[in-house]
Amino acid sequence: MPSKLPDVGTTIFTVISRRARELGALNLGQGFPDYDIDPRLADLTGEAMRQGHNQYAPMEGVPELRERIARKLGASYGGEFDPQSQITITLGATEAIYSAVQAVIGPGDEAIAFDPAYDSYEPAVRLAGGRCIRLPLMPPDFRYDWDRARGAVTARTRLVLFNTPHNPACTAATAADLDALAALIRGHDIVVLSDEVYEHVLFDGRKHASVLSHAELRQRSFAVFSFGKTLHATGLRVGYCVAAPPLTSELRKVHQFNTFSIANPLQHAIAAYLTERPQTGRELPAFFQAKRDRLRRALEGSGFALPPAHGTFFQLLDFGELLPPGDVAFAERALSEAGVATIPLSPFYAEPPPLSVVRLCIAKRDDTLDEAAQRLAALGARLSRSGA
Ligand SMILES: Cc1ncc(COP(=O)(O)O)c(C=O)c1O
Repeated sequence: MPSKLPDVGTTIFTVISRRARELGALNLGQGFPDYDIDPRLADLTGEAMRQGHNQYAPMEGVPELRERIARKLGASYGGEFDPQSQITITLGATEAIYSAVQAVIGPGDEAIAFDPAYDSYEPAVRLAGGRCIRLPLMPPDFRYDWDRARGAVTARTRLVLFNTPHNPACTAATAADLDALAALIRGHDIVVLSDEVYEHVLFDGRKHASVLSHAELRQRSFAVFSFGKTLHATGLRVGYCVAAPPLTSELRKVHQFNTFSIANPLQHAIAAYLTERPQTGRELPAFFQAKRDRLRRALEGSGFALPPAHGTFFQLLDFGELLPPGDVAFAERALSEAGVATIPLSPFYAEPPPLSVVRLCIAKRDDTLDEAAQRLAALGARLSRSGA
């Protein structure tokens, strides 16, 4: 059978996690917490099941959960959000991304994505029959080149894939970036898919630049979020997509034949949890900033540089002072010589530039971070001594 995605293998996250397990390495690769969730969420999930929420949920999502989300969005981004016509519960952000892409892209259409791009974007575009135009954000700053983006817009462009806070660059878009994005699509038949799964994870007092806080973009965007990130439970697989009613209506046409509806007890449990703890998410900047700073401090003087991390579950590690560029080779050495799994950035580029950074996940217990930093520092010391 001919493959529809002949060049697509197993994702880098799965490959690295598998290797980390085989080698018994510390896994700072894949972005998932290694600490427990709030036990109250587990209790509420059991309660939801005992209360009988075990049959199909409504296709668009449980009303109580969508109402909770609408209130939260209004508080965060201003204005009113209608849970009936603007909010859809999805199977994690991944399904929201996939369904939104299928809703917008048809054969021959083009979508613009910025590399390093989250790995599900391009396959979703290609499975819809479209073409993904990948524009590089270059290290060390990974800044948007909006002139270049303008040059990439054609009569076939239908979608721009945007991500802030950005995984894996660990940067956060600014209000000026949102204005530039709005200007990019103005006058064209183009919508935005804004991946905002790390909406709460911003550091040093930064404010999240959501498309939902931008009047013009709000009308023309699918904004995608994930409870997996906000509740430290990536296995929940519950996310949501927020979009203006005409876009939501198209999204749901795909969603209903893709997943139909999302785990009913989990939706009830999350709604109850958010009702009990309406401030959920507000604690995340301090929580993750402490982890980022702990890791940065532990790696001071190790020979590695730590580029600024504005947000996300991640911190980049720069080995440029110790070794020539080659992030895949370095990730392999970190795994086999230091017993620490990291994620190279090359797989997130269509045409990777020479790269001297790998991604470390900070959503880990303090003792995991300390041990990983110790092992990496020892590797740094060995590399400094050997000069290679
Ligand atoms: C930028 C980005 N988008 C989307 C996702 C997928 O989110 P989910 O696990 O809710 O499907 C992730 C997960 O790591 C991510 O980092």
